[in-house]
Amino acid sequence: METKNGISSASSRGAWGSKIAFIFAASGSAIGLGNMWRFPLNVAKNGGAVFVITYLVAVFFIGFTIMLAEMTLGRHTQKNPVGVFETIKPRTPWKLVGFTAIVTCVCILSYYGVVAGWAAGYFFKIITGSFKGDVTWEASAETFLQFAKNPMAVFLCLFVIVGITVFVISKGVKGGIEKFAKLLMPLLFILIIFLAVRAVTLPAAETGLSFYLKPDFSKFDIEVLFFAVGQAFFSMSLGMGILLTYGSYISKRDNLVSSAGWVCFSDTMVALLTGIIIFPTLFATPGFDPKGFEVSTGLMFQVFPIIISKVPGGFVFGMIFFFLLLVAALTSTVSLLEVPVSYFIDEKKWSRKKAALLAGIFIFLLGIPSALSEGGVPLFTKWGFMGKMDLIFGNIMLAVGALFICIFLVYIWKVKNAIKEISQGNPRFKLGPFWVFNIKVLAPLAIIAILIFLIKDIL
Ligand code: TRP
Repeated sequence: METKNGISSASSRGAWGSKIAFIFAASGSAIGLGNMWRFPLNVAKNGGAVFVITYLVAVFFIGFTIMLAEMTLGRHTQKNPVGVFETIKPRTPWKLVGFTAIVTCVCILSYYGVVAGWAAGYFFKIITGSFKGDVTWEASAETFLQFAKNPMAVFLCLFVIVGITVFVISKGVKGGIEKFAKLLMPLLFILIIFLAVRAVTLPAAETGLSFYLKPDFSKFDIEVLFFAVGQAFFSMSLGMGILLTYGSYISKRDNLVSSAGWVCFSDTMVALLTGIIIFPTLFATPGFDPKGFEVSTGLMFQVFPIIISKVPGGFVFGMIFFFLLLVAALTSTVSLLEVPVSYFIDEKKWSRKKAALLAGIFIFLLGIPSALSEGGVPLFTKWGFMGKMDLIFGNIMLAVGALFICIFLVYIWKVKNAIKEISQGNPRFKLGPFWVFNIKVLAPLAIIAILIFLIKDIL
């Protein structure tokens, strides 16, 4: 029987064929523009290496903890995010957490789709030969700006992305795209390693590398922590019950801890390697002036054509790269759209087609101001619409969601039940004390601290 995740099994609910299948599917949701577009942007805006270190700490202590919490809740209840709360604590306002997750996923998708659209646009730009010869910094920066402020081009690209995502979800062929991605993602990984090697061997790569890897701790403050934690949640698809849903299909025999570990590891590697490509290339490109540099939302789109032009066979290479980036982005958009769609199917009894189509139309319309905010319409540009959406939904709401998951697990479900669940498939849960401390104390306190900082900052 096909389940809504496209996993076939003889039982009524289904399970992943193997632990590897889960790791690939969860990594498919995790790895995407969060790693390759948003991570370098955060590094550039938040002090370079100090952000990278803070990010790694956040992934290890907080991201991993929440990921394991979500997977454990999912496997125990075998439910979706709304159903989990209903099963463990029926008829309480906890259901609302599931509801905010739906709103957040829709809002994230609206601007994520715009950026995925840029990737699609760049794929066509490369095919049509927009980047020929040695690409200079000025030319590349200008190409992005001209593209991003052309409303027709960005609308069309957004439309294509939302259209493909709606198609995949409405046909229930999510499993199909995951199989496809499983073949292609290792290729993306190899390509990134190759480009990283090229970037570090550029003459004058050191300046960029030291910006990226040599921390200046005097630049650390709570704002850096806030964005690092937010980036960890965003990149690992946490706080919205996505890993919870994926976890609900894991077999009781599988080891949740090592599965979570593998997803964290692969996701983090893609982000780190992307930084190794971006920063040496950026600093080594003639015409780039670090002093007068204002970080653009399109950073990765400005830098990748440059490094691609510096490898033999760059044209084919670039085409393959942007195609794979697009596939990585689509596996993430699909996981985001599944959240509202499964809600409308389960709770409102809509058909899958209707739910996907209506959600898609809404997301497209909501994406318009973001699409226009990179130079299209002065009103949205001045306001930084996309940046605001990302701050509210991509950082704050994910942190709030993760906090609720901590509180629910610790105070309602209880840690001892979680340990019992984790121990199935992992009888000697060695990381037990580390995880218990993190879920009870460290993660909630860190999240509360960054949220208080934010409220103070706004007031
Ligand atoms: N993690 C994905 C990325 O890095 C984006 C994403 C997919 C996401 N599903 C999510 C982010 C759920 C937050 C919540 O590109």
